[in-house]
Amino acid sequence: MRLALLGCGTVGGEVVRLLHEQATDLAARIGAPLEIAGIAVRRVGRDRGNLPVDPALFTTDPLGLIKRDDVDVVVEVVGGIEPARSWLVEALRAGKSVVTANKALLAEDGATLHDAAAEGGADLYYEAAVAGAIPLLRPLRESLHGDRINRVTGIVNGTTNFILSAMDATGAGFAEALEEATELGYAEADPTADVEGFDAAAKAAILASLAFHTRVTAADVHREGITEVTAADVASAKAMGCTIKLLCIAARGVDAAGRETVSVRVHPAMIPLTHPLASVGDAFNAVFVEAEAAGQLMFYGRGAGGAPTASAVLGDVVAVARNRLAGARAASESAYADLSVRPMGEALTRYHISLDVADRPGVLESVAGVFARHEVSIATVRQGPAGGGPAGRGSEAELVIVTHVAPDAALAATVRELRGLEIVRSVASVLRVEGGA
Ligand code: NDP
Ligand code: HSE
Repeated sequence: MRLALLGCGTVGGEVVRLLHEQATDLAARIGAPLEIAGIAVRRVGRDRGNLPVDPALFTTDPLGLIKRDDVDVVVEVVGGIEPARSWLVEALRAGKSVVTANKALLAEDGATLHDAAAEGGADLYYEAAVAGAIPLLRPLRESLHGDRINRVTGIVNGTTNFILSAMDATGAGFAEALEEATELGYAEADPTADVEGFDAAAKAAILASLAFHTRVTAADVHREGITEVTAADVASAKAMGCTIKLLCIAARGVDAAGRETVSVRVHPAMIPLTHPLASVGDAFNAVFVEAEAAGQLMFYGRGAGGAPTASAVLGDVVAVARNRLAGARAASESAYADLSVRPMGEALTRYHISLDVADRPGVLESVAGVFARHEVSIATVRQGPAGGGPAGRGSEAELVIVTHVAPDAALAATVRELRGLEIVRSVASVLRVEGGA
């Protein structure tokens, strides 16, 4: 069994190392030796440390490598949309199985890859694309295929989880925690894709597609990052017995006409410390799946890094190699449900709102009136001195309001109206609340 490796960076280098170290076991598990036919990179002469590989295998011609007759499996760990998409379409149409970690491509245009796989009768596996080492996509696309998944809630970005965990532990602001993440090598030089939620949104689209048998793209995902989360928000969450996490949430729902829908969103949210995701710290990932018959399932582990991601890649390589030797193919994409994706305004959420208000008679009634006008039901109200300290600021008070579940558009309109009230000095913090706090 011969494979073409496209990319030999953080992940690809570890794939090479593991292929070398585990060669005997892999051959036994597959039923044939696994050999590297070639490795496509951008710079052949780059120093790659002591990689256990023949330097003559490196090439700058990925297409030429893919087209070779002696290549059975193509492993893509380059990333990005093009030229990766063209390479993989070429491979799949030619009947060569593909293993990829490319979440950006799968979330933007997975349909093209799945169609090419069907056309060529080839396998398309991508376990490493979501949550690194954690076996998650295989359970969704195989083990849970007899069940009905209602909701998937996950922490799928390690960089932002590291930053939020640091803010929670030390009281640091976002900028300070990002600096620490960069120094420790968690955040990339350009952290935009992580901190603005693009990386998590791509993973959310892939998870939702598998969980709900529906094609969901990154463009369908409502996305908010963590750059606006403040130390005050973290303190507010703590006061409520909660912590703040960047969550990806994919859930079934029903629209006004009674049709089944899905909503897929990525945003920071408060979750109670008793929620299983609250204890997921550092750069770890975890995904909480709620299914009709199976109940609640939790998947936890390392979501990034060369070796953990290479572990997932190699698991896929063994699966597709065994399929090829058996002359078989895994089940193709399941997108039969074709549910429509609900706009964020219709998603049902809860808000935690912290207001600095004038401390005089009638203020609570005016504030409550705004919620009533937007048909948002208040769950709890807590009043304390403004400014956080016990002495407060005399004529001002802090109001902390937690709502019941309501459409996100109604909650957002409530906050907009509150900001315009003369008695509201400032809206100190607005956070969504998930998980039953
Ligand atoms: P790196 O940037 O470390 O490596 C990219 C590799 O692709 C390099 O070897 C580079 O060549 C090669 N490459 C880039 N452009 C071309 C090109 N035009 N032609 C041929 N080769 C090219 O990326 P990672 O290993 O971190 O990530 C790879 C994939 O895995 C991405 O899709 C990423 O999203 C995904 N992933 C990564 C994780 C991680 O923790 N790093 C976790 C989960 C998924 P050269 O070496 O010569 O520069
Ligand atoms: N940048 C990603 C993270 C890498 O921080 O989780 C894994 O996909």
